[in-house]
Amino acid sequence: MSTYQLAVLAGDGIGPEVMAQAHKVLDAVEQKFGLNFQRTDYPVGGYAIDLHGEALPAATLKGCEEADAILFGSIGGPKWDTLPLEQRPERAALLTLRSHFDLFSNLRPAKIYPGLADLSPLRKDIAESGFDVLVVRELTSGIYFGQPKGLSGEGEEEYAFDTMRYSKKEIRRIAVSAFEAAQKRNNKVTSVDKANVLVCSRLWREITEEVAKDYPEVELEHIYIDNAAMQLLKDPAQFDVMLCSNLFGDIISDECAMITGSMGLLASASMNSDGFGLYEPAGGSAPDIAGQNIANPIAQILSAAMLLRYSLNETAAADAIENAVVATLEAGVLTGELLSAEERHKAASTDTVGDYVVQQLLKG
Ligand code: NAD
Ligand code: IPM
Ligand code: MN
Repeated sequence: MSTYQLAVLAGDGIGPEVMAQAHKVLDAVEQKFGLNFQRTDYPVGGYAIDLHGEALPAATLKGCEEADAILFGSIGGPKWDTLPLEQRPERAALLTLRSHFDLFSNLRPAKIYPGLADLSPLRKDIAESGFDVLVVRELTSGIYFGQPKGLSGEGEEEYAFDTMRYSKKEIRRIAVSAFEAAQKRNNKVTSVDKANVLVCSRLWREITEEVAKDYPEVELEHIYIDNAAMQLLKDPAQFDVMLCSNLFGDIISDECAMITGSMGLLASASMNSDGFGLYEPAGGSAPDIAGQNIANPIAQILSAAMLLRYSLNETAAADAIENAVVATLEAGVLTGELLSAEERHKAASTDTVGDYVVQQLLKG
């Protein structure tokens, strides 16, 4: 029996609620595929601040270092919003983990499944034209991490600054991720930038063009971020892989999630060059709906499937989870945010969706 060590960091808000569903699904996978996931829970985010005074306690980081992969929930919330930036859950825990493990390659797959165009807020004909995009987001550099950042000056002259910076090496490795992914999909990379204004984007284009030469069968297109945001709503079927810097990928991936129907559908993998990864929903702790058993657990469940696929190479189990999720959506077992106001009385709870996915998985 294959045994794997997983560090599970559920975090804040809806994190623990949706993580409970991922646990159920992993239990079912163990049963069906004869695998053994040795899961250890560690405190992270605001929960860890309340418990231990810091968002990423040393024991949590050590547990992650010793694991085969990290399954992450979500962190942050109003309670911790007034802390200095460097102590907040977002930076002190999540950005630190990304940086510590050099998780530069962030994959966020968004798809409208055949027959499920009704879930999309896009006009019917546009939603039905097809949408199957992989956002490849650079995750450990750019304006999130560039130094210096801070405040200077005084009074009305006081100003704030962040630094956007990219090295050729950093651009090259994420571009390679995008082209490698495109080769396994529909052979198209759309690189998203602001090369009409930003020096970083000019270098981004130059290096992306260089990398493209090694992948002659993959078509490369460049698009400005503002136009990309618009084209996604006008003609989403034109995209395959969208290659983005850190900030642009953050924004574009939320838009892609919503095109499929909900933030709660978008999973993600954040990996380094050794194949080690952290897997988490692209959305946050959703304080507006936390604690009500109404959050959509699909992104968390699909993040577990990505973990099996990319870090553990358990392809059959990953496929089985994804098929069970599609069957659940097709059966109309949906959390409320996926339904119109008139249909919302038919909403399934977080638990019900988790249970249904398990049932489909064991049946399939
Ligand atoms: P959010 O993603 O938490 O919520 C945005 C909207 O999407 C909300 O209306 C929320 O209800 C909805 N939503 C998100 N996930 C959902 C789900 N699974 N099911 C149903 N609806 C869902 O973003 P926000 O409100 O801007 O941020 C809230 C907190 O989360 C902030 O502290 C933010 O910094 C943090 N955050 C954390 C992560 C992470 O842990 N990876 C990601 C994004 C935001
Ligand atoms: C995401 C989140 C994070 C980001 C925040 C919480 C730091 O929005 O994973 O998309 O901006 O990367
Ligand atoms: Mn985001």
